[in-house]
Amino acid sequence: MRIKILTLFPSMFDGFIQESIIKRSIEKGVCSVEAIDIRDYSNNKHRHVDDTPCGGGAGMVLAVDVVDRAIKANKGDNSYVVMMTPQGKTFNHQMALDFTKHEEIILLCGHYEGFDERIRSYVDIEVSIGDFVLTGGEIPAMAISDSVIRLLDNAIKKESHEDDSFSTGLLEYPQYTRPIEYDGMSVPEVLLNGNHKLINQYRKKESLRKTYLRRPDLLEKYELSKEEEKLLKEVKEELANEE
Ligand code: ADE
Repeated sequence: MRIKILTLFPSMFDGFIQESIIKRSIEKGVCSVEAIDIRDYSNNKHRHVDDTPCGGGAGMVLAVDVVDRAIKANKGDNSYVVMMTPQGKTFNHQMALDFTKHEEIILLCGHYEGFDERIRSYVDIEVSIGDFVLTGGEIPAMAISDSVIRLLDNAIKKESHEDDSFSTGLLEYPQYTRPIEYDGMSVPEVLLNGNHKLINQYRKKESLRKTYLRRPDLLEKYELSKEEEKLLKEVKEELANEE
């Protein structure tokens, strides 16, 4: 997959592509990540990309002609153009999975200023990473690229994301490693006895417990198997006894 990021601050992506799983994925040919300077598409000798808002008001507005040229110059037949904006659809795991199906995604970032409204007609989808406003779309573009890249074949071991929170529809079960005892807290006994049937049952139950306590909205959408129904009933009884 190719990821192209249209930004006014391409150097913000240097660290992102030079470390860890993203770096290794690029080296292995799983994906490419290219940060492209929107200013390269300015017709202005000062490389201006924005102008004052029509009708007056504070701040500057990213110009439609510059962004249109930047998109057209980088877009292929199979590109999917994604605009980073707090007004967009809230990003989630399913969208990350959907994005992996595209040969190329182009992530369009604004910075400080708003976008000229007409820019929206050149994008396929508008995406927000949450109900808060950042100074620009660069961090959202990194968050989205990161979540998409880790799902691509050969980026990480498949087992590493199969049990992820959200990919199963439940939050992930708790994990532990050595030391077995620390500051009065111990690793649950069941994880130390090597009985994989019991371990899987424990993990399923704790995943249900976490989801029930923290994200009951996810549980409402989740179809419980007979075994899961039984485990959830046990969880609820245990919680009622704790009260
Ligand atoms: N640009 C500024 N804030 C944003 C957000 N929350 N999501 C996506 N793009 C943004």
